[in-house]
Amino acid sequence: MKIALTGIKPTGIPHIGNYLGAIKPALKLAETCEARYFIADYHALNACKDPDQIRSMTLEIAAAWLACGLDPQKVLFYRQSLVPQTHELLTMLLAFTPKGLMNRAHAYKAMLQANSQANRDPDDGVNMGLFTYPVLMAADILLFDTDLVPVGNDQFQHVEMAVDIAQSFNHIYAKECFRLPQPIATEHSRTLPGLDGRKMSKSYGNTVPIFAPEKQLRKLLMRIITNSQGVEEPKDPETCTIFSLYRNFATDEQVETLRQRYLAGGMGWGHAKQELFEVMNTVLSPLRERYEELMANPKTITDALEEGSAKARELAQKKIAFLREIIGMD
Ligand code: TRP
Repeated sequence: MKIALTGIKPTGIPHIGNYLGAIKPALKLAETCEARYFIADYHALNACKDPDQIRSMTLEIAAAWLACGLDPQKVLFYRQSLVPQTHELLTMLLAFTPKGLMNRAHAYKAMLQANSQANRDPDDGVNMGLFTYPVLMAADILLFDTDLVPVGNDQFQHVEMAVDIAQSFNHIYAKECFRLPQPIATEHSRTLPGLDGRKMSKSYGNTVPIFAPEKQLRKLLMRIITNSQGVEEPKDPETCTIFSLYRNFATDEQVETLRQRYLAGGMGWGHAKQELFEVMNTVLSPLRERYEELMANPKTITDALEEGSAKARELAQKKIAFLREIIGMD
């Protein structure tokens, strides 16, 4: 069985764009792979120095994945900071990472550009954690003999860098020390629109949180921006935000029925929004209930993470022992 691994950055409560674009596809992949999914808390440290925030975000994002159906008995679910072997591998990999490779990382280049546009020193606000971010990510991946890395398109370059670093290591010791990972896209081919019709994104403030209470969910959906067509007019499902969201939560049959109602006319936007609320609420209610239950008992979350991390450390320790021998530090 192939090994699939991905890191989850602890950044606030996810929205339905994250659910459909990252969580659901990763959980689907876990059905056919040996999955290893972890909370990438050390990656969050580069930007966040508030310990309470790190703690609460870690708990919330772990609860979110568990509530969405991650089964810690099937998926190795752990916390990066509880697998210190990651950092030993990071140190090894740094010696195989050309600085020029890091200079080419998109995230770093974007910071340089933002600084130059603002007339600041090019490296203003860039810490070494950020600069070497792709190497830590390579350590996460290579430590666990990963075949597949389900990620958003913005992370492909990082996975390709992990391959470069692994190849250089393998080449120097003339041995397949590391398996070469392959990124796979989790994002939909069709982007999910937010409440204002633009791509759903935290930075646009147009998101629908996965676990929004029923009342808030309805209120948010009623805010979806539509055109000014009247009730009687036939409507185009293909250009409609409500319909785009609907098709992600409804059965094929329901989608077809709503499509016919759009085309026939006689249905106002308020009705379409109500239909959307119903299908979304049906899918999201059980997730919301599980999330609230988990957050009310945070020990179940930390226990799951600690148990998973203990298993992850065992695997990691074996890999590190093997690598220490290769590099002559046994
Ligand atoms: N950089 C990833 C992100 O921002 C998170 C991440 C950290 C990751 N380590 C990883 C993803 C290893 C895949 C594999 O989303």
